[in-house]
Amino acid sequence: MCGIVGYIGAEEAAPVLLNGLKRLEYRGYDSAGIAVLGKTGLQVRKAKGILKNLEDKITPEINSALLTGAMGIGHTRWATHGGPSDVNSHPQTDVSGKIAVVHNGIIENYGKLKRQLEGRGAEFRSETDTEVIAHLIDCYYKGDLVQALIEALKRMEGSYALGIIHEDEPDRIIAVRKESPLIIGVGKGENLIASDVPAILEYTREVYYLDDREIAAVYRDRVEFYDAEGQGREKELAHVSWDAAAAEKGGYEHFMLKEIYEQPKALTDTLRARIKTYAVKSINLEEIGFDETWAEARRVVITACGTAWHAGVIGKYAFEHFARIPADAEIASEYRYRNPVFNPKDIFIIISQSGETADTLAAMRMARKSGARIIAISNAVGSTLAREADLVMYTWAGPEIAVASTKAFTTQLMCVYLIALQFGALRGLIKAEELARYIHELEQLGSHTKRILASREAVQRFAALQFNKTKVFFMGRLFDYAVSLESALKLKEVSYTHSEAFAAGELKHGPIALVDSATLVIAICTQTALFDKMESNIKEVKARGAATAVITFEDTAYFDDTADTIFRIPRTADCLSPILSIIPCQLYAYYCSVQRGLDPDKPRNLAKSVTVE
Ligand code: M6R
Repeated sequence: MCGIVGYIGAEEAAPVLLNGLKRLEYRGYDSAGIAVLGKTGLQVRKAKGILKNLEDKITPEINSALLTGAMGIGHTRWATHGGPSDVNSHPQTDVSGKIAVVHNGIIENYGKLKRQLEGRGAEFRSETDTEVIAHLIDCYYKGDLVQALIEALKRMEGSYALGIIHEDEPDRIIAVRKESPLIIGVGKGENLIASDVPAILEYTREVYYLDDREIAAVYRDRVEFYDAEGQGREKELAHVSWDAAAAEKGGYEHFMLKEIYEQPKALTDTLRARIKTYAVKSINLEEIGFDETWAEARRVVITACGTAWHAGVIGKYAFEHFARIPADAEIASEYRYRNPVFNPKDIFIIISQSGETADTLAAMRMARKSGARIIAISNAVGSTLAREADLVMYTWAGPEIAVASTKAFTTQLMCVYLIALQFGALRGLIKAEELARYIHELEQLGSHTKRILASREAVQRFAALQFNKTKVFFMGRLFDYAVSLESALKLKEVSYTHSEAFAAGELKHGPIALVDSATLVIAICTQTALFDKMESNIKEVKARGAATAVITFEDTAYFDDTADTIFRIPRTADCLSPILSIIPCQLYAYYCSVQRGLDPDKPRNLAKSVTVE
């Protein structure tokens, strides 16, 4: 995830900025940069790769007093628009090179703004959405950076935390945020801005938390606040008591929990820029560029490993459901050694959070040779998968640090649903009004996940009672079966509990022999037409002594008399429910791990990215 730091005071800014950026390294990044304003004007330095590359570049300049100035902004970038490179790193500047901007978030209408600005003569050097902001502010600049920013913000859609400096205003840094965090650290004769607490802890513990759309003008000796219309406002200073380790995790005990909690935002980020709102809402997958030729496809093949494969299984059901096209979900490590039958009219969807999984890449390369179209879904811009696939759709989840995948999974689902829905529309199977209804449901998922997370204590209490169970089975039908697979994997990974997933209809064909009073069965029940079937399955395992829990919609009392424990999730379309029903299961796995005294972020024997066979 990108990181922001800014400094204004009596010290040389460059070393302070570097230091702040080092404190944000844990968040993951692919390039870094700083802008310093001093006697020689605005100076920008950027470098792709690790922070050391930037440090090596600027240290001689700092030592020989060539890069001086007591104010500046810095950034670590996790690429979204445009791959990792020096030129795509932040700060981004306007045409005159007087305005420098660092940005976390996504400007959704940047394509449109860029075309308009180019029409007015702006020359763009990078592929980033951030450069648009610098040019846009320049358009409105008449000697007051705050006023220019207010006008620019009126035209920007999306999420942002921004640090901005202007060569003609050497006494202040301007900061603003919307849906992306930003704080102001208040020191003695110096002030800082930062996206995260760790960047400022060495300097101060007194902070202002910026509210959405609130603007701060940060001077060396004071901070002024304005609302979106430029009206001044007062704010209360807060004290940060976290230690450095807690601050890195945003106050959460572990990265896994933090990332579970980041899902509402990650889902919204992944969805929003891909929705067009005119008379009725529609899906706009510019990165894929669907046209009529796609309707000729005969089959969709999804390949991936682990959690990403589970997203693929849900994708298979989604393609069948929305687009009525044959679809397969293949485990990449198996697929690469099979002798599969290819057809140039196949569409391959390759899913990988890291974009570096060896088996997944091998399966992708095999599919390429067949002449089929390849769409990659990845969380890592510039990864091998992203570079080698024909088309890439990014999950804008931000870096996932915990080994167990959580927010990458739900955002992969969001991408898969968007492609399947768009495909259904292209094949004339989903009419505009129906598509708009599904889009509406997708748009609700961010707030629905927030509501589920708000009731996490119920899952925590349940885990406190059940964490010692030696056998945990998840079961479900259709989409719920796929969620069961992912839930069982999560529990295995972080709590080392023996857990398995079963298609509920398969119970009688063997697995029920394992069920006894030492078993916990968690039934995922969101496929409304199959509630009675699930009820029978729950009764069957109860009759053999198993403890039972059900995850179902909040507006049904169907399982109230059957299950021992019920976790409720907000109502959505049955086929979209996996994005919601997985959340209690992620929390359950997390709390079982903690109860067992384990470190959920670093499970034994596992690596975050499996780049070898
Ligand atoms: O980076 P990828 O999505 O290709 O990784 C695939 C799997 O290795 C990964 O999902 C793994 O199963 C996770 N540890 C799951 O939590």
